Amino acid sequence: MVQRSSGHLWWQRGVVYQVYPRSFKDASGDGIGDLQGITSRLDYLRWLGVDAVWISPFYPSPMADFGYDIADYRGVHPMFGTLEDFDGLVAEAHRLGLRIILDYVPNHTSDEHPWFLESRSSRDDPKRGWYIWRDPASDGGPPNNWLSVFGGPAWTFDAATGQYYYHAYLREQPDLNWRNPEVRVAMYDVLRFWLERGVDGFRVDALRQLVKDDRFRDNPPNPDRWPASPPYDALRPVYSTDRPEVHEAVREMRLVLDEGASSGERVLIGELYLPIERLVRYYGEGGSGVQLPMNLHLISTPWEAARLGDLIDAYEAALPQDGWPTWVLGNHDRSRIASRVGPAQARVAAMLLLTLRGTPTLYYGDELGMRDVPVPPELVQDPYEKNVPGIGVGRDPVRTPMRWSGEDNAGFTSGRPWLPVGEDHAEVNVEAQKRDPRSMLTLYRRLLSLRRSEPALTGGTYAPVKAADDLLAYTRETDERRFLVALNLGPGPLTLGEAGLGRGGRVVLSTFLDREGEAVGETLDLRGDEGLIAETTTL
Ligand code: GLC
Repeated sequence: MVQRSSGHLWWQRGVVYQVYPRSFKDASGDGIGDLQGITSRLDYLRWLGVDAVWISPFYPSPMADFGYDIADYRGVHPMFGTLEDFDGLVAEAHRLGLRIILDYVPNHTSDEHPWFLESRSSRDDPKRGWYIWRDPASDGGPPNNWLSVFGGPAWTFDAATGQYYYHAYLREQPDLNWRNPEVRVAMYDVLRFWLERGVDGFRVDALRQLVKDDRFRDNPPNPDRWPASPPYDALRPVYSTDRPEVHEAVREMRLVLDEGASSGERVLIGELYLPIERLVRYYGEGGSGVQLPMNLHLISTPWEAARLGDLIDAYEAALPQDGWPTWVLGNHDRSRIASRVGPAQARVAAMLLLTLRGTPTLYYGDELGMRDVPVPPELVQDPYEKNVPGIGVGRDPVRTPMRWSGEDNAGFTSGRPWLPVGEDHAEVNVEAQKRDPRSMLTLYRRLLSLRRSEPALTGGTYAPVKAADDLLAYTRETDERRFLVALNLGPGPLTLGEAGLGRGGRVVLSTFLDREGEAVGETLDLRGDEGLIAETTTL
């Protein structure tokens, strides 16, 4: 049954929490998180107040890209447990009122997937056309200049059959050929397999990569590349990504998602690193695309009031009429918010994420203010860092274990954690922060509970409030209620004038958690690094 409240669907009102399964909770003691571990902490997520859990891949995989190289779309890697464990996880989540969103990786498989083993066995194999095979260029080199996101050429030569295969990522991640109808049928069946097991939606990995130019034209050079950017940025990937045909495939995925369910009961989220004008096309005509094309721009926009204000305005203006917004502060691929903006501003960022209009995605551990944990060179695991060392692209520091307590290994495992837990885990952990009425965790929980109880913060309108300097301010409003959100992005005190204040009101929440109930008059004073939510009366 579709659950609506104030005309909004669960994935519009709700908050998505991303779990990186290797790092959330280890039940087996092997130092790597697992499904039983996740199940054992669902009550924490319920307590925290999120609505849906997106779990990064846990399928059988040689782990060349830590699970984003899948060797069997319909199973569970023994390291993470079994299908029965998965069923148990879904049942427990649903019992607690939490939805489960899986990571769907349609662009590529592992090079150990039986489909690829067959495909590479001979040029005449029936599965040859399931992947992207091309003859060498006349000089014997790769068929064109396309680059792998993870460094080096995107083509690998297969000596046995004399052709190159294409891989947008690692050579161990050959791209499927989505122009082949058999591939589509097989991949839609993967969606059905998990839907039948009760999942509530999918986050579609690397969606912009899905269909490539049919003429395999060379990508043009990128004139905007900065000197220290990753090698992939040397070209503009106009022929290898975001092709018009991707939208066709998305429409089909959406039809499969909606089979036997009313539209809106399940959610399709697209991972799309794209400029806003291209991103919003993924809502599809008449809403036939992904319901939530992930807006990842908070991750890359400089943390300045004017820049963020412009981003929000540009995004709100570009959204199609029925397009529901999304906001993401962090994920398993990018530096954590508390490292990007510092611990004080991470609290302001939390208030921003949870009061903007749209579905927020929260990355595990950010609710504790976890920072990137330095990983010494000899312990580096991430293949991206290994291929492109020294420029800070490594993703291990953002994938370190969740901190549950101040015990050894932060209560994550009884074994040896696969990545270091970090040195500040004595304070930055769930147990300690639960007890502290001013902690980051308490702030997140208060924000989540306020969102849940105030429809204006989910379905209400958004309007920017004119402000200067380091102040970012806006209102969220329904007929009944009006909230002013004022965020000080700098270290010095600031005063907000009457523009946003209406006839005054009261403070509902400060990021310092110490001003609740304070009366608001004609002006509002903010301390350095403070964010405030005030309920105000409309003029
Ligand atoms: C996505 C994932 C990333 C992965 C890549 C290849 O960007 O988020 O972790 O390495 O796709 O699947």
